[in-house]
Amino acid sequence: MMAQSRTSQSRTITLSTPQPDIAVLTLDMPGKGANVLSRSVLDELAEHLDALEKRSDLAGLVIISGKPGTFIAGADLREFAASLDVPKSDVVAICRRGQALFGRLSACPFVTVAAIDGIVLGGGTEWTLGCDRRIASHSEKTQIGLPEVKLGLMPGWGGTARLPRIVGLGNAVEIVTGGESIDAKAARLMNLLSDVVPPDDLLPAAIRLIRAEQQSGAWREDRVRRAQPIEMSETELGFLGATASGYIQQQTRGHYPAPLAALEVLLGGAGMPVEDALSMEAEAMADLFGSPVNRALLNVFFLGDRNKKDTGLAREVKPGHIDSVAVIGAGIMGQGIAAANVRRHIPTTISDAMPEALRRGVEKVLEEVSYNKAIKGPDAKRVVEFGPLLTATASEAEVAAASLVIEAIVERADVKKSLFAKIEPLMHGQAILASNTSTIPISQLADGLTRPERFIGLHFFNPVRKMPLVEVIRGRKTSDETVATVVAYAKRLGKSPIVVADGPGFLVNRLLLPYMNEAVQLLLEGASVKAIDRAAKNFGMPMGPLELFDVVGLDTAQHAGRTMHEAFPDRVADSPLIAKLVAAGRLGQKSGTGFFSYKNKRKRAELDPTLDELSRPLIGSKSQFTEAQMIDRLILPMLLEATRVLEDKIVRDARDVDLGLIYGIGFPPFRGGLLFWADTVGAAEIIKRLEPYKALGARYEPTEVLKQMAGKGTKFYN
Ligand code: NAI
Repeated sequence: MMAQSRTSQSRTITLSTPQPDIAVLTLDMPGKGANVLSRSVLDELAEHLDALEKRSDLAGLVIISGKPGTFIAGADLREFAASLDVPKSDVVAICRRGQALFGRLSACPFVTVAAIDGIVLGGGTEWTLGCDRRIASHSEKTQIGLPEVKLGLMPGWGGTARLPRIVGLGNAVEIVTGGESIDAKAARLMNLLSDVVPPDDLLPAAIRLIRAEQQSGAWREDRVRRAQPIEMSETELGFLGATASGYIQQQTRGHYPAPLAALEVLLGGAGMPVEDALSMEAEAMADLFGSPVNRALLNVFFLGDRNKKDTGLAREVKPGHIDSVAVIGAGIMGQGIAAANVRRHIPTTISDAMPEALRRGVEKVLEEVSYNKAIKGPDAKRVVEFGPLLTATASEAEVAAASLVIEAIVERADVKKSLFAKIEPLMHGQAILASNTSTIPISQLADGLTRPERFIGLHFFNPVRKMPLVEVIRGRKTSDETVATVVAYAKRLGKSPIVVADGPGFLVNRLLLPYMNEAVQLLLEGASVKAIDRAAKNFGMPMGPLELFDVVGLDTAQHAGRTMHEAFPDRVADSPLIAKLVAAGRLGQKSGTGFFSYKNKRKRAELDPTLDELSRPLIGSKSQFTEAQMIDRLILPMLLEATRVLEDKIVRDARDVDLGLIYGIGFPPFRGGLLFWADTVGAAEIIKRLEPYKALGARYEPTEVLKQMAGKGTKFYN
């Protein structure tokens, strides 16, 4: 048994002495699943160090977590969010205090070791960097990272100064500016860890390490070395800086300042004594703290956090279990949905009306699930693992035997309804029928079903592999049990479901189609394909709207556009250009051409001069547009539609809108969300920006919601 001694205030950190000369600080935040670094936890550490530092009887101190699978999940972001407006000097002071506190761990008169089992992030990692040594468990959960750049920040408690002095500057640049965590094996290879051991050997191994260090005295030499500048030639430093900054600029396209700022601190601090590097870090961190991008990314973090806990229902309902899935339609979406299921080891049946489409679909699913990033190709082991989970069939009875049947066929209500009429009677009473429709109201599709309470919209996004969002659309008669089951199932697939109310286009496509519609309008008013897509990308969209047409498929976009045009004729046009492209067989990526051509080796979007022949006759007098005008033309109709979606109560609040667009279409996270961004512009200013487009009609008319907000000076987020 360990001897326990608690100081009066200590709540998270407990001191024990498993051996007379070994002290152990165990972190176990009461009532929490994970340890986070709040101000009070740091105060507790300081108190313990006040007492421990004075002891000459200790050989070493071990820091360990009382929560298996997590060491420290990072700083308390709610505390961060609450202090975004403090003056810069306060932020610098907070950083300096944290740096000094962790620095005390390598100034103690004994060896200090962090014994890590599970995840350690951000401030937690910086805590371990203050120790003389780190060891970790070989558990898969062990992940070490400094993800601050993902919140628009950089490490501020010593990470940029101490990490390169342990793992070398090149490794530190990669970890800090990339923000990705590394596993125990990678950390061991770069000497971030002195040892990797089984989880139950962690404490004994830490004690053995302390004894070995006391023998060799290596820890003392390292303390001296790590206080010095890093030894590196000017040429090496210059080369590292140039490659890293080129890579970062290509990745961030100028939208995310933190990685470059962190790089500058890493490079600048390398040539200084550690104390000066720490001071430089604190100043640079304070410049990022509370910046617009930092605020936006924190918002995105909180949106995701809320979604994780969300069951989609106001009352508690026990979800049913989905043990097998059938996907009807083996096209773009059917393939992606089937692959997502197979990857989660859910037995999956796939079918299609066209034997050739089914054959190609199965091939694509197997290709996707067997792909191994490490070997950049198919992995035979994965084919053996996943292959047996996939069944291709033409039998309706076989499809109907699944506990969840997902329809992903052509976007036409009549075709979908006649399919349901055949399948539903063959399904067992508890099974759920779902449609992946992009736009057709669920209640309309439910019309004629025997069990409409077990029918639901389950709308995945393209490409399914990449997009985390799934819209769960409840029809008028969909039951709570069906909603709960489908939400839990989507989470099991690793997706982030949001429950939305029924209506044409639901949430995301209702906002997306006006934007895509506007891109075609701009083209017909004389803007070039290249300029339109570039404007959207410069705003931060992951791809331009015309390329998006090609990814979605122009036939599908045409059907979806028609549903939206019928529902909102004054806001979404039924474009003759799309019809013309579809008639010419230009369906986008899947057929090799659409707005762009994909007939090159890497299947990348390339400008296609033959588009001109089809579009030219439809273009009237050519107008000139600045990029800012094009951005307004594209984004403002989307924003206006978002205010209507809120009015129609399609979603609960602005946060659902923002999460939906970020997770569903890759709306730029550095803007914090569409409505978060609108708040930074302000309702009055948005109304001003709409004025020049009055002549374009209803789709640029300020909505009531917006006018009221402008009048009262209120925001979407309060
Ligand atoms: P797709 O054209 O790639 O594939 C549709 C497949 O369904 C084809 O292989 C076709 O042979 C098959 N099919 C047609 N009628 C059928 C029937 N009666 N029975 C069985 N199979 C039939 O279309 P995609 O893009 O996969 O779209 C499918 C559904 O997913 C549509 O409702 C679409 O609106 C929706 N969706 C599409 C997205 C996209 O980006 N393409 C995104 C999200 C939803």
